[in-house]
Parts: sequence; C-alpha cells; structure tokens
Amino acid sequence: FSKRVSILETVAKLVLLGDSGVGKSCIVLRFVRGQFDPTSKVTVGASFLSQTIALQDSTTVKFEIWDTAGQERYAALAPLYYRGAAVAVVVYDITSPDSFLKAQYWVKELQKHGSSDIVMALVGNKADLHENRRVSAEEAVEYAEKNGMFFIETSAKTADNINQLFEEIAKRLP
Ligand code: GTP
Ligand code: MG
Repeated sequence: FSKRVSILETVAKLVLLGDSGVGKSCIVLRFVRGQFDPTSKVTVGASFLSQTIALQDSTTVKFEIWDTAGQERYAALAPLYYRGAAVAVVVYDITSPDSFLKAQYWVKELQKHGSSDIVMALVGNKADLHENRRVSAEEAVEYAEKNGMFFIETSAKTADNINQLFEEIAKRLP
C-alpha cells in the first residue's frame, strides 16, 4: 500500500499591537509555550516567535509572530513590523479604557498603512479580571463590527480563549 499525504502549509506574518502592559507578550507566551509569567518584563523594540497549528482539514498554519513593544517611545518602530503582515492582533486590557482608546488608534493606523487585505483581530485581554471590567464587551463588539474585525476576549493568565483566538484567525486567512 502506498498513501499519498498532501500537506498544505500556510505561513502568515502576524503582528501584535497595543498599549504597554495589556498582555501582548503573555498572550504569545501562552500560545507558544503554554506558560504564564506574572512578572513579564516590558518588551524592548520587538520580539519574534513562531508557532504552527494544525487545522481540522489537516492543513497547517505557521504564524510568524512579531510581538511589538507598547511603550510610547517605540511607537515609531511599529510600521517595520506591521508592513506586509497578513494578520494584526490589536490588544487592549478590559480593565483599562485608555488601552481601548489606544487599540482604536492602532486600528486607524492599520487602516491607513497596513495591507488592504489584512486580517484584524480585536482582543480584550485580562478577562479573568472581570470584577474590575471597565470596557464592556458590547462596545467592543460594536467597534469591531464597524471596522470589519474579529473580536474575542482572552486571558493569558487562565489560557481562556487563547488557542481559539489563533484558530479563528487561521480560518479567516485568504
Ligand atoms: P509591552 O511589552 O510593554 O508592550 O507590554 P505587554 O503588552 O507585552 O504586556 P505583558 O504581556 O508583559 O503583561 C503585562 C502585565 O500584565 C504582566 O504583569 C502580566 O503578568 C499581566 N497580564 C498579562 N496578561 C494577563 C491576563 O490575562 N490576566 C491578568 N490578570 N494579568 C495579565
Ligand atoms: Mg511585551
């Protein structure tokens, strides 16, 4: 017997954007290593990791992930990372209205300067801190729909919706 196995791998450049401290690096660490670091250090410049996931139709998607630095002093570097990206994951912290405003700033920037067919996800992270929630899921859904984005709330701490985030992105790739 012989078996022919066809493997289709998609490679997608993905960039994470969002205010400092919203949990971008923790989301990546949870997705790539299955870990959470409560003492996560601020990112300097950007960091790169990759992770491959298998989809149900036996194709795979390899994410080449650029985790950018959210501190204001690094804002000018962002275009280096979102240029040519197939996916932008814009992250805010559900306990921080300021971080939601910052997310909207990044969405506008991507609409102006990103690829025209970029897949954009809006991510409300730190969903485990729901007792301190200050950004409602309703207003985030409304904003995401208006801007053609996929929306999800995650917790890098509990791992809630982290794999789902990347699976949903994979499904939306052209
Ligand atoms: P910059 O690198 O400066 O842009 O920040 P960042 O967005 O990468 O933030 P980082 O991932 O380093 O997380 C900042 C802080 O938030 C750390 O103390 C994390 O432990 C904490 N944190 C991240 N994700 C979560 C989460 O889902 N829940 C809770 N409770 N804390 C989180
Ligand atoms: Mg970081």
